[in-house]
Amino acid sequence: MSFTVAIDGPAAAGKGTISKAVAAEFGFGHLDTGLLYRAVGRKVLHGASAIEAAETLTTEDLTADDLRTPEVAQAASKVAVIAEVRAALVDFQRAFARRAGGAVLDGRDIGTVICPKAPVKLYVTASAEVRAERRWKELTGNGHEAALEDVLADVVARDARDRERAEAPLVAAEDAVHIDTSDLTIDEAVAAACAAVRAKQGSLNFE
Ligand code: DC
Repeated sequence: MSFTVAIDGPAAAGKGTISKAVAAEFGFGHLDTGLLYRAVGRKVLHGASAIEAAETLTTEDLTADDLRTPEVAQAASKVAVIAEVRAALVDFQRAFARRAGGAVLDGRDIGTVICPKAPVKLYVTASAEVRAERRWKELTGNGHEAALEDVLADVVARDARDRERAEAPLVAAEDAVHIDTSDLTIDEAVAAACAAVRAKQGSLNFE
């Protein structure tokens, strides 16, 4: 039986951490859909056409070791406004969502466009300052040089582009459970997400 958990929200709100923890807790598969857009953005930075890159993505593209850089993040957000790029990635995401045993997908449009019927939808947010600080710690912790104010400017610019685009903009689904992680520990945020999943599993009698 398939069971989809859709997790959306702005950059660095904690979606990735929550998604991985929920997937581990319930034994579901996890797809970080941002990686698809990052892989396309990375190929564009290397000179490819965005639409062609999206239509011909390979597993190798998704495992490149520089997908997490700020440059690739901005490139991902730019290619993500292109309708044909988004369309090329829909089937893969929906097939993953239907996988037997359950799936967690995190991104920007999972609960609104990719899986509008998902039984569990979470909208994970945090203030821009908190998100920038987390991203900055992650970057500097991984040996990248970065100034906090530049990271904040990047996060704000990416949010604006993701929210204001015409195609599948970042917006909470009407029936999403909101989790603001600004003042939560990781454990508290994960517990809130797991509680939302459990509540729905109970009402659907999912085993
Ligand atoms: O989640 P992330 O930061 O890795 O995503 C990178 C960019 O990809 C993000 O700024 C917008 C785009 N994206 C999208 O448009 N839709 C998704 N479902 C996931 C990511």
